[in-house]
Amino acid sequence: MKVTYIQPDGSEQTVEAKPGDSVMQAAIAANVPGIVAECGGSMACATCHVYVDDAWTSRTGTRSESEEDMLDCAMSEMKDSSRLSCQLRLTDEMDGLTVHIPEEQF
Ligand code: FES
Repeated sequence: MKVTYIQPDGSEQTVEAKPGDSVMQAAIAANVPGIVAECGGSMACATCHVYVDDAWTSRTGTRSESEEDMLDCAMSEMKDSSRLSCQLRLTDEMDGLTVHIPEEQF
């Protein structure tokens, strides 16, 4: 399955991923710039912040309260589409998922 990351300057990178991976893990494995993931996925840093593309928000579920609290600490503006990419698990329905990387992570 594929995930596309769009940088703040509009450049895109599409990477291969597996169901069960997090959107953060898929980015780190492919060296996608802008996903820092300082805490390694334990929901303690907010440096894996992404904006889910509008076309996909209905398929990515909702964020938990603790995810939302952590997003409050994110460097870039928190929007309705904001997610911690370490908490976004890929499922088969998410093949082709597109996320936008924020301007700043820390
Ligand atoms: S990697 Fe730290 S909160 Fe996602």
